Amino acid sequence: MNRVFSGIKPSGEVQLGNYLGALQNWVSMQDESDAVYCVVDLHALTVPHDADELRSSTLSLAQMLMAVGLDPERCILFVQSHVQEHAECAWLMECTAAFGELRRMTQFKDKSTGNEFVSAGLFTYPALQAADILLYDTNQVPVGEDQRQHIELTRDIAIRFNSRFGDTFTVPEAVIPPSGARVMDLQHPDRKMSKSEESPQGTILILDPPEVIEKKIKRAVTDSNDEVFFDVEKKPGVSNLLSILGAATGKTPKEACDGITRYGDLKNATAEAVIELLRPVQEKYYTLADDPAETSRLIAKGAEKAREVASTTLSRARQNIGLLNL
Ligand code: TYM
Repeated sequence: MNRVFSGIKPSGEVQLGNYLGALQNWVSMQDESDAVYCVVDLHALTVPHDADELRSSTLSLAQMLMAVGLDPERCILFVQSHVQEHAECAWLMECTAAFGELRRMTQFKDKSTGNEFVSAGLFTYPALQAADILLYDTNQVPVGEDQRQHIELTRDIAIRFNSRFGDTFTVPEAVIPPSGARVMDLQHPDRKMSKSEESPQGTILILDPPEVIEKKIKRAVTDSNDEVFFDVEKKPGVSNLLSILGAATGKTPKEACDGITRYGDLKNATAEAVIELLRPVQEKYYTLADDPAETSRLIAKGAEKAREVASTTLSRARQNIGLLNL
């Protein structure tokens, strides 16, 4: 059966880009495939953080993943640090990845530039991500466009490991949606919508109340003249709204354009589609948030199931790379 794996960091709140670029695909792939999804808390340690906040974001992100439609009966849902194989396999990946390859990662450049403290973990982050993916004999990795380079690197590491030490890892491929793969900030359509608190008016959070969503979309930066068509270069703001509308209604951005001629209509249609998309997610999230003990029970079970798969792959990798087994 086709194995799917993906992860999301518990840093900041979940925003619309996460949902449209990745989580929607996670949900649809859980039925067609053997899917494994992970809250990647070890990745959140690569930047300065508050310990208590990380613990509570990890639990609430697991609840959010269930609220968007992941069902622990139909997929494996777990927290990365609960399966210790990830950290061990990451070391094997660090020793297989080249320094120059890691230095070329654009996410490292973006996240390290201008910061006083840059952890070594931020630099080796993609090696841990490769471990996450390769431990599960993954065929497909549903992600947004910004993760494409990390998945390419994961493929290169798997191919190199296999050629040096014999067939060990499955070589995965990225699955990127036709709409919503790169949701841009509503106030700065030249930059990606992100969890960071830098642009609260440009970021739609999954838990934003309907009136807040409506206000943010109505105030979204559009481009000069009132024509609606999809062209990311000429019309970045309008094209972003068309991508959001498309991803929220199961259409391509060009199809979403059909019948819409004015900015006001585009904003109304987009706000309505996003509000309707998120309404059931918000309702379910608040119900789940009332029962943290049940969430903990479910993710503990998820970790058990994940460990079974990860430990088999790690044993094979340990053996092939030359570690002594007793
Ligand atoms: P993270 O936590 O930043 O984001 C989770 C997922 O959301 C997607 N995404 C977006 N998609 C479209 N538009 C946006 N504005 C947007 N912002 C975020 C991301 O592409 C991602 O799919 N390194 C990963 C986490 C990770 C991982 C893995 C992913 C760790 N191990 C193994 C896949 C497989 C990250 O930081 O995602």
